[in-house]
Amino acid sequence: MRPSLPPFLLILLLLFFPTITSSVSLPQPPTPSPTSSPSPTKTPPSSSSSSSSPSTLDPKQLRALQSLNIPTSTDPCSPSSSRNATICDSSKPFRHIVSLRLSNCSSYVALSYTALKSLSTLQSLQLLNCPVPPIRFPPELIASLRSFTCINSLHKVSGTWLSRLENLTDLTVSDVLIKASGPYVILGHMNKLKSLTISRANLSGSLPRYIHSNLSHIDFSGNQLKGSIPPSVTMLDSLEFLNLSSNALHGEIPASIGNLISLQNLSLASNSFSGSIPASISAIPDLVHLDLSSNQLNGTIPKFISEMKSLRYLNLANNNLHGVVPFNLSFVKKLAVLKMGGNSNLCYNHSVLSSKLKLGIAPCDKYGMPMSPPPSKDSYADDSSDYDDSDEDDDKHKKEHHHGPNKYPKSKSKPYSKPLSALF
Ligand SMILES: *[C@@H]1O[C@H](CO)[C@@H](O)[C@H](O)[C@H]1NC(C)=O
Ligand SMILES: *[C@@H]1O[C@H](CO)[C@@H](O)[C@H](O)[C@H]1NC(C)=O
Ligand SMILES: *[C@@H]1O[C@H](CO)[C@@H](O)[C@H](O)[C@H]1NC(C)=O
Ligand SMILES: *[C@@H]1O[C@H](CO)[C@@H](O)[C@H](O)[C@H]1NC(C)=O
Ligand SMILES: *[C@@H]1O[C@H](CO)[C@@H](O)[C@H](O)[C@H]1NC(C)=O
Ligand SMILES: *[C@@H]1O[C@H](CO)[C@@H](O)[C@H](O)[C@H]1NC(C)=O
Ligand SMILES: *[C@@H]1O[C@H](CO)[C@@H](O)[C@H](O)[C@H]1NC(C)=O
Ligand SMILES: *[C@@H]1O[C@H](CO)[C@@H](O)[C@H](O)[C@H]1NC(C)=O
Ligand SMILES: *[C@@H]1O[C@H](CO)[C@@H](O)[C@H](O)[C@H]1NC(C)=O
Ligand SMILES: *[C@@H]1O[C@H](CO)[C@@H](O)[C@H](O)[C@H]1NC(C)=O
Repeated sequence: MRPSLPPFLLILLLLFFPTITSSVSLPQPPTPSPTSSPSPTKTPPSSSSSSSSPSTLDPKQLRALQSLNIPTSTDPCSPSSSRNATICDSSKPFRHIVSLRLSNCSSYVALSYTALKSLSTLQSLQLLNCPVPPIRFPPELIASLRSFTCINSLHKVSGTWLSRLENLTDLTVSDVLIKASGPYVILGHMNKLKSLTISRANLSGSLPRYIHSNLSHIDFSGNQLKGSIPPSVTMLDSLEFLNLSSNALHGEIPASIGNLISLQNLSLASNSFSGSIPASISAIPDLVHLDLSSNQLNGTIPKFISEMKSLRYLNLANNNLHGVVPFNLSFVKKLAVLKMGGNSNLCYNHSVLSSKLKLGIAPCDKYGMPMSPPPSKDSYADDSSDYDDSDEDDDKHKKEHHHGPNKYPKSKSKPYSKPLSALF
């Protein structure tokens, strides 16, 4: 419901009389609804109506919003007018802002210490496409802030700058350059974090050896992280989401990853993990999404994966896996996405699975080796020198092709000399 006209005007008068400028545009008057009381629309606000109207925003905070170029021509506390760029509490006599989102800032907006100090009631601050220079946050704001989101904003931030935000439960920094020698610099004192995203931030260093155990969401995708997954990862038993994709991580996937009993989505894609897929992954009861693509994983696919009841997305493409795929038709049909292409020694049993499923891999011969599509040769031993494409594989090529040829950097280590993309 739109507010009735008198309190609306009253808010405007209260808000703008002291600070009115030529740039403030008046809002559209609310269209009177036919069912509303037939009061004359031009009545000036009476003092009696002020007691029933919601209290207005703290004038200090209103000035701070104006300094940040937030439109204040309508009450910033009214959900309909602000598109939730601002959310207020309901305190009296003045309301205070608890959540602020700055998006698509114009180039002349600057965060000022004074403005942020006035806004120290904020629990949530979001900066989206706001390339303003970072400034030191006032201690009052640091104490109250619970959620900080910075996407493609602030020219560049340092790990120590972020590390001061100790009371955060949610931290999201994406498409921002972070200068820090490792995640531990940022996270050292953030003991209340529940959700952590630092993605496409060129973050270097290695995964923290110890990370406190209440986190439910970790996304470090698209950074420069090196080293291996520490065995202490098993402490994260509240973790539901882990995305470490597109880093430079290596080593084996620790078998202890199976102890992440709350995990639902796991991506280790586009790293340099080697060794085999630990069968313990299949012990994660609620795992829905598993992406291990574009690594150097070898060995066979653990057959226990086909017993994972919740799994809907499985991507094992572009590894060095070999052998007969241990999946039957009912498992494959249950999945929304299954990708296995780019594993040149992996094949499917054509009496169990059909080529119509377009699995991206060749059928097996009777020895469990990928069949050369023109299966005329008796010997499979020289497959490696003469693997060729068939019409059938052209079909499969379509399914995997959107990865683009640049996603197959590991093809050099494969026994076949043809470009991998020709194998689909
Ligand atoms: C604004 O926030 C309220 C409560 O948080 C939510 O119900 C509403 O959908 C939001 N509106 C918009 C436009 O985001
Ligand atoms: C910011 O800009 C993007 C793209 O220019 C646009 O899609 C988005 O709606 C804008 N957001 C706001 C809050 O104006
Ligand atoms: C975090 O919040 C608590 C109370 O909510 C406060 O006592 C403490 O000083 C805050 N921490 C920082 C670093 O501001
Ligand atoms: C990203 O980090 C690397 C060091 O890990 C550094 O050499 C490079 O300059 C950084 N890139 C940018 C754009 O800052
Ligand atoms: C984890 O959360 C529980 C309850 O939510 C809380 O009691 C405990 O102190 C938290 N631990 C840490 C290290 O924050
Ligand atoms: C992990 O992050 C990448 C890049 O940000 C994204 O494309 C992918 O969908 C994410 N995976 C999951 C499981 O969310
Ligand atoms: C898998 O790779 C590891 C090291 O990357 C190697 O030690 C092991 O022998 C390989 N196993 C197979 C079956 O190729
Ligand atoms: C987890 O994976 C499922 C299945 O792929 C997907 O629908 C869902 O959006 C993912 N969740 C998150 C938080 O990315
Ligand atoms: C498919 O495999 C699963 C797990 O191995 C098994 O439980 C199920 O009975 C199999 N279904 C058929 C039709 O063979
Ligand atoms: C393919 O499946 C059939 C029927 O289950 C089985 O007899 C045969 O040994 C399997 N072939 C290979 C190469 O695993």
